[in-house]
Amino acid sequence: MTAISGKLAFVTGGASGVGLGQAKALLRRGARVVIADIMQDRLDAVCAEFEAAGTPVVAVRLDLTDLDAYRGVVDAVEAEYGPIQLLFNTAGVSQFGPLQAATMDDWRWQIDVNLYGTIHALQVFLPRMLERGDDNHIIVTASMSAFLSLPGCGIYTATKMAQRGLTESLAWDLEGTNIHVSLLCPGAVNTNIHQSLRARPAHLKDTGFYTGTEEDEARLKAVIEHGMEPERLAGYVMEAVEANRFYILPYPEFRAPLEDLQAEVMGALARPEDDPEYEMRISKGVPGGSDKQ
Ligand code: NAI
Repeated sequence: MTAISGKLAFVTGGASGVGLGQAKALLRRGARVVIADIMQDRLDAVCAEFEAAGTPVVAVRLDLTDLDAYRGVVDAVEAEYGPIQLLFNTAGVSQFGPLQAATMDDWRWQIDVNLYGTIHALQVFLPRMLERGDDNHIIVTASMSAFLSLPGCGIYTATKMAQRGLTESLAWDLEGTNIHVSLLCPGAVNTNIHQSLRARPAHLKDTGFYTGTEEDEARLKAVIEHGMEPERLAGYVMEAVEANRFYILPYPEFRAPLEDLQAEVMGALARPEDDPEYEMRISKGVPGGSDKQ
């Protein structure tokens, strides 16, 4: 059981969407909250909202693709407010299109934010959390794209599957330590992710996909506007954190596609009777089995 009340939480992407929902849910449960985001105008706007509601938050501008900046921000926050014990690694961006149209800037931007942003978080937080030895929880927001691929979503899917792989590995590596880990994989959420390109840096602007016109944003918004509201999603996350559950998968509409995928993979996977060397490998302890699977 991870207690939320009284802890200091750091929420990346906290000025919008999923992260903002998490910040609100954390405040309701008595946590103190730091929101970190690259968009200063959003930080200012939500800060004013929280202030007016009588539940102030600490807002910091952070480009999480910059490891030194990330470390500097966390050092400064902890020096002033004390140890961060809840890390919500939530910020992320998306841009879609067929892989044959992708430029290297398209690849770099999404990998920088979604994957390196997560890697930087681990580099910054793991040593200090382990050294302090107190009760911590890291929550990585990936996506159902961490399990399922769709046409036109290749770069995003590559980053989300990588986030799942590293978060599952992290849970193994941190077993028995003072850090718990959870992986949130949402389906559609009604957020501002249709405006992702507004946070794309100028030095990575060469794109083979769409450019973020009003029409682009409207088309993308139509895909998510009937998705789950971020605060409702955050409720599932808080329950999972309190119960120390690893997978947070609150979207029943993905049961059928995941069952289909599992059936297809199991159908393709060789059976022991198909392979004359199987018994030998098992007797020699060749990797394959796991008590977690
Ligand atoms: P959002 O666009 O509403 O919020 C993301 C925030 O991240 C924005 O405020 C943006 O300024 C910030 N951000 C972008 N680049 C950054 C950087 N370099 N450094 C710091 N902050 C940066 O989007 P949403 O939907 O709330 O996304 C949050 C997470 O949820 C992402 O990881 C996304 O992949 C995931 N997700 C969203 C789904 C959806 O339908 N909205 C579905 C599945 C997963």
